[in-house]
Amino acid sequence: MMMGFFQIILVSSLIAFTSAEFSAKVGINYGQLGDNLPSPTESVRLICTKLKAKRVKIYDANPDILSVLRGTDLQVSIMVPNEIIDDIAVNQSLADHWVHSNVRPFYPETKIRYLLVGNEVISSPGNKTWLNLVPAMRRIKKSLKAHRIRKVKVGTSLAMDVLTSSYPPSEGKFRPDIALPIMRPMLEFLNHTKSFLFLDVYPYFAWAADPVHVDLNYTLFESHNITVTDPGTGLVYHNLFDQMVDAVIFASSKLGYPDIRIWIAETGWPNAGDYDQRGANIYNAATYNRNVVRKLTAHPPRGTPARPGRVLPSFIFAMYNEDQKPGPGTERHFGVLYPNGTSVYDIDLSGETTEEEYAKKPLPKPWNDEGYKGEIWCVVGRPREANRTALAAALSYACSQGNGTCGAIQPGKACYKPKSLVRMASYAFSSYWAAFRKDGATCYFDGLATQTIKDPSYGHCKFPSVTL
Ligand SMILES: *[C@@H]1O[C@H](CO)[C@@H](O)[C@H](O)[C@H]1NC(C)=O
Ligand SMILES: *[C@@H]1O[C@H](CO)[C@@H](O)[C@H](O)[C@H]1NC(C)=O
Ligand SMILES: *[C@@H]1O[C@H](CO)[C@@H](O)[C@H](O)[C@H]1NC(C)=O
Ligand SMILES: *[C@@H]1O[C@H](CO)[C@@H](O)[C@H](O)[C@H]1NC(C)=O
Ligand SMILES: *[C@@H]1O[C@H](CO)[C@@H](O)[C@H](O)[C@H]1NC(C)=O
Ligand SMILES: *[C@@H]1O[C@H](CO)[C@@H](O)[C@H](O)[C@H]1NC(C)=O
Ligand SMILES: *[C@@H]1O[C@H](CO)[C@@H](O)[C@H](O)[C@H]1NC(C)=O
Ligand SMILES: *[C@@H]1O[C@H](CO)[C@@H](O)[C@H](O)[C@H]1NC(C)=O
Repeated sequence: MMMGFFQIILVSSLIAFTSAEFSAKVGINYGQLGDNLPSPTESVRLICTKLKAKRVKIYDANPDILSVLRGTDLQVSIMVPNEIIDDIAVNQSLADHWVHSNVRPFYPETKIRYLLVGNEVISSPGNKTWLNLVPAMRRIKKSLKAHRIRKVKVGTSLAMDVLTSSYPPSEGKFRPDIALPIMRPMLEFLNHTKSFLFLDVYPYFAWAADPVHVDLNYTLFESHNITVTDPGTGLVYHNLFDQMVDAVIFASSKLGYPDIRIWIAETGWPNAGDYDQRGANIYNAATYNRNVVRKLTAHPPRGTPARPGRVLPSFIFAMYNEDQKPGPGTERHFGVLYPNGTSVYDIDLSGETTEEEYAKKPLPKPWNDEGYKGEIWCVVGRPREANRTALAAALSYACSQGNGTCGAIQPGKACYKPKSLVRMASYAFSSYWAAFRKDGATCYFDGLATQTIKDPSYGHCKFPSVTL
């Protein structure tokens, strides 16, 4: 009995010891793709006082932000932009130069601790940057060493599309095109340098892609009666987030790295979206983010079924609703703050606000799932900026899915406008979406499309619509 008691103390103090270095502090992703966002000074004040975050991640090495962070206790993650990875991979003096001009002037007064080389590079269409990613990480690490900058871990952020299979979690596997050429050397580098696999984990997208089969409450950490048992391991899951993280852990194990440490580089939930916005509302966003913060800050750490009790350091996405992000409306609504700095909903990233304390303030009203009633169309989102080649390819895809969705844009028909690719593509998007939405088609087209309630029809050309 006594023995058992001491053993328990020993085990928990060991956990406390290993946790200390990378404790369960939740950080915030401070993206800047917005109009008139508060200044860096005001933003850092909001991060500390309003959000109570202990870490901040930025998507570049903005010197104005890094200056403001000087002398604060915030641990900082900065990023090498995707565009220069190819050059850095083959040029040590360029890597040295980048570190010299972006890290050296601020370190150590600004507590830069993580340096991500690129953002979701492997999710972009395949190109030579993929193979340059790990070589660039190695060069940056070498430059940091040469500058005697020892506390900065080097990594890169990965989206869940690095996996080819993720269900059940024990079947998690990296995509065959990247597993051996990219993931294995990356894991070797991360393990050797005691860094982390930085993951962007969005149960929201998994749910939005298949709302019929994925339970919303299970996705929001709100399910009290649903569990999923992995037949391969017998591990029991209570939420989708744990399933996704464990799938990556099992995938890494298969490449020989069962102990690779995981960092949640982004997780979050959109507070609004387009008109047909499927679960993207303030109520669900507050529910998800409060629950995930509670999980990630729990004492002792909860970990995941594959790694119970292990700390999962993390950054919530994102600080602001960023109105200049391209893509569907949800992309512009992941913020916990509006662009003017007021809260979309209360959130305390220190994890010290309990459910009861939040509950005293009434939860915001659901952003009315049933809100808009009427017709919606799917059109080209940003006509001026749209890539013409990609637009033509999307039009051709929309028209090739059958059932004559593009009859009206054939020569001689009412919507034939050979001089306006944008109008033709908008017609094709609306027509495709109207025909196949019931089968799960979305108004997306690689971010080229957006929903609108303004009827784009003209003259005798009537655009098909979806009615909510
Ligand atoms: C390859 O993809 C990266 C990452 O998205 C991008 O920054 C880069 O411009 C692409 N390179 C080419 C040659 O298209
Ligand atoms: C390497 O980068 C440096 C700039 O830091 C540049 O001056 C040099 O020309 C580059 N070398 C090659 C081979 O591109
Ligand atoms: C990972 O790193 C640990 C400790 O640094 C080492 O013991 C282990 O052998 C490494 N794993 C692999 C597969 O190299
Ligand atoms: C989700 O949970 C809420 C409250 O816990 C409950 O009212 C609701 O019926 C649940 N929804 C589903 C689809 O299970
Ligand atoms: C869980 O509870 C919800 C609401 O209470 C119910 O709708 C759902 O069918 C239950 N699911 C299971 C698997 O029991
Ligand atoms: C901030 O922006 C939100 C959303 O646009 C708006 O509802 C709110 O009134 C604004 N607050 C202030 C103080 O301007
Ligand atoms: C435009 O899209 C095409 C096809 O998707 C792609 O190959 C090309 O690199 C893009 N051009 C620009 C400037 O992004
Ligand atoms: C085309 O329309 C017919 C009749 O409305 C329907 O039965 C068929 O499933 C549709 N085809 C596709 C690919 O949706």
